[in-house]
Amino acid sequence: MKLSHIILSAALLLVPVVGSAKDPVIDIVPQPVRVVLQKGSFKAIGASVNCDAAFDAMSRAAVQDFAARMSLVSGKVSSFAVPIGIAASAEAGAIKGFVFIRDTNMDDEEYRIEIGRKAVKIYAAAYNGVLYAITTLKHMLPEAIFGTTPAVDADWHLPCAIIADMPRFAYRGMHLDCSRHFFSVDAVKRYLDIMAVYKLNRFHWHLSDDQGWRVEIRRYPELTLVGGYRSGTMVGRDFNSDDGIRYGGYYTQDQIREVVAYAERLGITVVPEIDLPGHMLAALSAYPWLGCSGGPYEAWHKWGVADEVLCAGKETTYEFLENVLAEVAELFPGEYIHIGGDECPKTEWEKCPDCQAKIAELGLKGDGRFSAEQYLQCYVTARMQSFLATLGKKIIGWDEILEGELAEGATVMSWRGIEGGIEAASHGFDAIMTPTSHCYFDYMQSRDTAKEPVGIGGFVPLEKIYSFEPLEGIPAGSEKHILGVQANLWTEYIATEEHLQYMLLPRMLALSEVQWCRPENKDFESFRTKLAEHQLKILDIMGYNYRRLD
Ligand code: ACM
Ligand code: ZN
Repeated sequence: MKLSHIILSAALLLVPVVGSAKDPVIDIVPQPVRVVLQKGSFKAIGASVNCDAAFDAMSRAAVQDFAARMSLVSGKVSSFAVPIGIAASAEAGAIKGFVFIRDTNMDDEEYRIEIGRKAVKIYAAAYNGVLYAITTLKHMLPEAIFGTTPAVDADWHLPCAIIADMPRFAYRGMHLDCSRHFFSVDAVKRYLDIMAVYKLNRFHWHLSDDQGWRVEIRRYPELTLVGGYRSGTMVGRDFNSDDGIRYGGYYTQDQIREVVAYAERLGITVVPEIDLPGHMLAALSAYPWLGCSGGPYEAWHKWGVADEVLCAGKETTYEFLENVLAEVAELFPGEYIHIGGDECPKTEWEKCPDCQAKIAELGLKGDGRFSAEQYLQCYVTARMQSFLATLGKKIIGWDEILEGELAEGATVMSWRGIEGGIEAASHGFDAIMTPTSHCYFDYMQSRDTAKEPVGIGGFVPLEKIYSFEPLEGIPAGSEKHILGVQANLWTEYIATEEHLQYMLLPRMLALSEVQWCRPENKDFESFRTKLAEHQLKILDIMGYNYRRLD
C-alpha cells in the first residue's frame, strides 16, 4: 500500500459521512466512505465530458461511453474530449463539465469526485477507479442513466459535494453455478452487468460438477459432448424422480473468451472453478477410465453428491487434470483458478487398489484427526497447486482443503461457516468468506416458503447478509489474510434466468455493502431506505427480476 494511500485512508475514516442515505439524491450503494454535501448544484445535462489523455485506452473508452449515455438519456449532447495536461487546466478552472484526471498516487480501486457548480472533477489512478467513479455518478443521476430511454424531463442536476471512496476488501465476489442448470452467455453477461453496478469485482464461475461439464476442453471433446448432458432432471424436491428429458449445454472456448473480455470491461476478473477430485460424475461419464471402478457412469439427474470421484491412484488422472487445467489457465487471465475440493466422498478410494497403492507409496497414514484418504486428497490438491504455479496461477479451494495439510500458497474459501477462514488466516493463509449462514443465495429469502419458488431450504434474508462482519473472530494481525467476501448461488433448484435473478436481487446489494463498506459506514435502515427509494428503480429500468421488499 502506498504511503499517500495510508494517509488518505486515515483521513477518510476520520471524517463522518454526511448526506448519505437520507438524501434522496445521494442514494449510492454501496455507501461511499465519505460524502460531504455542499451548497449549490451542477447542471449535468449537456455538460462536456473531458478525459485526461494520461489514462489508458480502456479508461478513456469507459469515459466516452459515459458521455454517450448522458447524451442519449438526457436528450442533450455531452461532447467528449481527451485533452493533454488536463490537471493543470482543471485546477485553473479553464475546463468546465466533467473532468477525469489521472492521479497516480491513488490506489487502483480508489476514486474521488468533487462536484462544483461549473465542473465535476473526478480523480482516479486506474481503470477500476474510473469505473467506480462513473458508477457513483450514475447512482446520483436520475435512474434513467441506467437505461436507454431518454428522460428529458428528469432533473439532471448533481448536488455539489465531495465524495472520496475506496473498497474495504479487494476480493468482492459473486459465484454462479452453471452446472446444475446451464445459463446462456447472455444471461451470464446480464449477471455481470448487475454485479458491476454494485462494484463487485470477482465472478466465480462454477463450470463443472456431477450434473454437467460446461467448458469446452479441446483435448478432451467428450467432456462437453457427453459430460455436458444428462438424461433427465429430478422433479421438485423428490430425489427419486427423473423427468426423463435430456438436459445440458456448454460454453465453447470462444464464448468463454467473450465472457472474460466482457467481464474485464466491467472491471471484473473471472475465477473459473473446476471442482476436483469429487463432483466429477459428468467427467467420468465422458471418460470412465478416470474413475476407480472404470464405470460406466452417467452425469447425474439428481441434486446431491455422487460417491464416484476421480481415481487418485492412477497417473493418467493427474495427466488428465494437468491437461485440463492448462487449457483453463490459458482461457482465464486472472491469477486464481478454483479447484473445488468440497464434499469429496472417500468410499471409492477406500476400496480401490490403485488409490490404496498410492497411499502406501506416499506413506500416508490416518492419525485420528484425518484419514489416509483425506491425506490423499491433500496430495491431489498440492499436486494441482504446484502444477498451476508453473503456469503462474494460484489456487483457491473450498474449506475442505484444510483437512490434513494445506498446500503452500493456497487460498481457502470458507463456506461451512467462518471457522475455515479463521483457521486459514490464523496460519497465514489467505481466505475468502462465503459462509452458508450469510452468503448462500440459494437459501430462502422468507420463512413463508409457500410463497417462494421451490428451493433448497435455509433462510438468508436481506438483514442477515447485511449483518455479516467478515473479520469477526479473526485474530489481531491476521486480518490482512481475509481477502474479501463472496456470495454463492447454487442452481440445483434454479432452472430459469428469472428465478436466478430473483435469488440474486436485491440480496446482492446488501452483499455489496458488506464487501465495500467499513462497519462504521453501514446502517441497515439507511440501506433499506436507499433500496426502496432509488435502487429498486435501477433494477426496474435495467429489466431485472427481484424479490420485492417485505
Ligand atoms: C459447497 O457449497 N459445496 C461449497
Ligand atoms: Zn482409485
